[in-house]
Amino acid sequence: MQPFETVCPAESATDQLGKRIADAAQPCDVIALVGTLGAGKTRLVQAISVALGNTAESITSPTFVLVNEYTAGRMPVYHFDVYRLKDDDEFLELGSDEYFDGDGVTLIEWGDRVEHLLPERASVVKIDIGANDVRRVVISGPLSERLTITTK
Ligand SMILES: Nc1ncnc2c1ncn2[C@@H]1O[C@H](COP(=O)(O)OP(=O)(O)OP(=O)(O)O)[C@@H](O)[C@H]1O
Ligand SMILES: [Mg+2]
Repeated sequence: MQPFETVCPAESATDQLGKRIADAAQPCDVIALVGTLGAGKTRLVQAISVALGNTAESITSPTFVLVNEYTAGRMPVYHFDVYRLKDDDEFLELGSDEYFDGDGVTLIEWGDRVEHLLPERASVVKIDIGANDVRRVVISGPLSERLTITTK
């Protein structure tokens, strides 16, 4: 399966990508967001969640609670940030598996840190910062397949 690749030269492009992901997202999707500090993981979660019908102000990085739920839109969003996760057990005790199988889409910042705890169907969104702050985004997994199909 070919990865889906795009660039986001400005935040408006990140908003457009968020809308495309929101349109392609399905319940039980698990999406790992991977990239350095400030790459734009939270910003993309915001773009996806707003496109699904949530308000931008409600979307904050769940740094201390590790998971936020946004349920005002047409599909729930479960927003994890595992940057401060102590160990695997802490993730499992949050009920990660129930979220994965829930009615919404699960988005996990720093998802590479819990890769071994994610279902096989998980997609990966890798964000890199290039010259002039341009974001290069590479998406692999089932989500990339759906995005590629909608492009054609
Ligand atoms: N094209 C772009 N797409 C997304 N964010 C951008 C873009 N250009 C600049 N930015 C800025 O980059 C920052 C990204 O911050 P964000 O909190 O989303 O990063 P993060 O990957 O979640 O970081 P952390 O690892 O600390 O959680 C924001 O301040 C945003 O305004
Ligand atoms: Mg973040």
